[in-house]
Amino acid sequence: MNVYDSELVAGLLQKCGYFKTEDIMSADVIFLNTCAIREKAEETVHNRLNNLHYLKKKNPQLLLGVLGCMAQNLKNELLETKPFVDVILGPDSYRRIPEILNDRNGLQNHQVDTKLSKFEIYEDMFPSRHEGVNAWISISRGCDKFCTFCIVPFTRGRERSRSMQGIIQEVEEAVANGFVEITLLGQNVNSYRTGEGKFHVLLEKVAAVSGVKRIRFTSPHPQDMDDDLLKVIAEYENICNYIHLPLQAGSNRILKRMNRTYTQEEFLILVDHIRKFIPDCSISTDIIVGFPGEMDEEFAETLMVMESSAFDSAFMFKYSPRPGTKAAEYSDHIEEEVKQSRLEQVIALQKRLSLQQNQRHIGKILPVLVEKESKKSSMKWAGRTEGNTWVIFDKTNEKPKDIVNVLIQDAQGVSLFGERIMEKELVHEIN
Ligand code: 5AD
Ligand code: SF4
Repeated sequence: MNVYDSELVAGLLQKCGYFKTEDIMSADVIFLNTCAIREKAEETVHNRLNNLHYLKKKNPQLLLGVLGCMAQNLKNELLETKPFVDVILGPDSYRRIPEILNDRNGLQNHQVDTKLSKFEIYEDMFPSRHEGVNAWISISRGCDKFCTFCIVPFTRGRERSRSMQGIIQEVEEAVANGFVEITLLGQNVNSYRTGEGKFHVLLEKVAAVSGVKRIRFTSPHPQDMDDDLLKVIAEYENICNYIHLPLQAGSNRILKRMNRTYTQEEFLILVDHIRKFIPDCSISTDIIVGFPGEMDEEFAETLMVMESSAFDSAFMFKYSPRPGTKAAEYSDHIEEEVKQSRLEQVIALQKRLSLQQNQRHIGKILPVLVEKESKKSSMKWAGRTEGNTWVIFDKTNEKPKDIVNVLIQDAQGVSLFGERIMEKELVHEIN
């Protein structure tokens, strides 16, 4: 989401006559787009700002801005501790940028705008994207779910959906600019809805845009996964058979305290249901360990649900208290060493599960979207399966952005290894 927002801001800057420099010393304007989801993300920004302070001392004309969730969340702290920051804009205030840049010579004071909007969806603004395979497209902003650990509803405000027409126009533009994969984004992507219909209707429309080879979306909430959506994923060849399904925790008491609105049993039934509807569907997840009050037995349930769900991959985090959220107020926080030990356990388990899931592909022919040269050899390509797993294979006559058939021969670490199968050989094999 932040990559997309940075691209939106880059688009605005270009419109104002600015262009991107690779040499930070020659920059006239530096914006840091920030994340507030965990403390570590904020620390990174603080460190970066301290480094940039040095540049600002050398060049007082430099305009330094902090954008995004951390600007929203920590406006006062930033004003107090980082007075050298000129501009602070929350995620709904990027439209102020041209005005601020036009007036920059007359600027005496800090420019701060962290008002959240019920309506801002940047409908008529177009992002300036890096060349590549995948284009991120934001379809909704904000979140109304209020999981008790999460800062997003406070930093990004209420949930609102963009018009289907605006999204389709952006998809068409991305395809015209050479992108072949589209990833639809929303904090709660599958609760998207407009007068024209729900998320599955939008997905069908995107799938019908000519030139879209692959569609992904992130992140859905388990509560909003319905059969209409699963049906559309199963039906359209260019919608990847891949679902990111954040579990967060396995124990019902913890799920309730997190306000996740589903139980362990409901989650497991959903995973089963997805695999029945879409037999080869890959599923990834998000896990938080050490949520306040999480007991050893409750943590063991997270391990159990991970094992039963056999996730293909997972993003795993130690709980990080976010001031202002409900969970941060709980009195029974878990010690750092316990969190660390639990994190190591989920990582070890997921490593085994990912390998096991990847091994099930050995001997299969999978469509792979060629993305780039392998880091290890200029004679090999790296591409991804529908399930989002990297596949390394010898180059023949294909090029980036082609979808080719690869016979999977080995699984190691988190990657697959194989050999390109030419269409002729495939016909032969099927016969
Ligand atoms: N601490 C740790 N992880 C968090 N996430 C969100 N808030 C927190 C927090 N306070 C994780 C969740 C979410 C992912 C994007 O980040 O797992 O799904
Ligand atoms: Fe945060 Fe996602 Fe929960 Fe919304 S649904 S509050 S973005 S974790």
